[in-house]
Amino acid sequence: MNFKKLKQSPKLPHHIAFIIDGNGRWAKRRGLARSVGHKAGMETLKKQIEYVRDLGIKNLSIYCFSTENWNRPQKEVDYLMKDMFKNMIDEFKQKYLNEDVRIIFSGDLNDNRIEENVRKSALDLAEKTKHKTGFILNPCINYGGRQEILRAVNTLIKQGDQVDEKCFEGALYTADMLPLDLIIRTSGEQRLSNFLPWQSAYSELYFTKKPWPSFNKRQLLKAINNYLKRNRRFGAIKE
Ligand code: IPE
Ligand code: IPE
Ligand code: MG
Repeated sequence: MNFKKLKQSPKLPHHIAFIIDGNGRWAKRRGLARSVGHKAGMETLKKQIEYVRDLGIKNLSIYCFSTENWNRPQKEVDYLMKDMFKNMIDEFKQKYLNEDVRIIFSGDLNDNRIEENVRKSALDLAEKTKHKTGFILNPCINYGGRQEILRAVNTLIKQGDQVDEKCFEGALYTADMLPLDLIIRTSGEQRLSNFLPWQSAYSELYFTKKPWPSFNKRQLLKAINNYLKRNRRFGAIKE
C-alpha cells in the first residue's frame, strides 16, 4: 500500500518504536568518522518522525542512547550527549512547542553523567508539553529496560501496594502511551538490546539490514505493510 492508502488503514499500529542502529557502520563503510554517521542518522530521524505523524500513528518511541552506551569511547559519548541530543532537544522545542505534540523522555535523566543544561532543557520540554494529547514522542535517552523495571518496583515498594499489571505499567516511563505494536530495528542486528522489555511482550518485531541513515520513507512503508500482514493472536485463536 502506498502512503495515502496506508493512512486510511483501520489496522495501523498505534505505537511504534525505532531502534536506530547502524550509524557507525554506515559511516565506516564510507570512510567517514562515526560522528558523521550519527549526524546523518539525526537527519533521518527528523524525517521519520514526520512520516510517522503524517500516517496518523499516535505514539513513537525512539531508542537514542542506552544505559550500555556509556561503555563507548568518551569522545563518542560526548558527541552524542553534548552535541546531538542537545541540538535534538532544542530543535524539538522549536518545532513542536506550538503543535499538539507531547514529548516525554524515557530514561534516567538525573544521572550525573548527563550535563545539567541537557537535563534541564529535556525536563523543561516535557513539562511544557505534558498537557498535549495529540501525538506522543518518546526519545529514550540513558534508557535501560532493566533500570526502568527496577525503578518501577522501587516506586511501588514505597507506595506499599499490592502490584498488578495495571499499576506496574503506571510506574513505567511509558505510563501514558498506548501498547507498543511494532518495533523496527535497522542494520541487521536481531535483538532488543535492553529496549522496552515490559512493553515489547506482545510487540511485532521488524528487522531490516538497512543502516539507520539509509532508512527512508519507502523503508518505513515496507515495515508498516509487513506489520499489517501479521496475524496478532495474543495467545488466542484467530484466523
Ligand atoms: C546507533 O548507531 C546510534 C546509537 C546507538 C547511539 P550505532 O552507533 O550503534 O552504529 P553501529 O551499530 O556501531 O553501526
Ligand atoms: C542499541 O544499539 C541502542 C540504541 C539504539 C540507542 P547498540 O548498537 O548500542 O546495541 P548493541 O550493542 O548492538 O546490542
Ligand atoms: Mg549499534
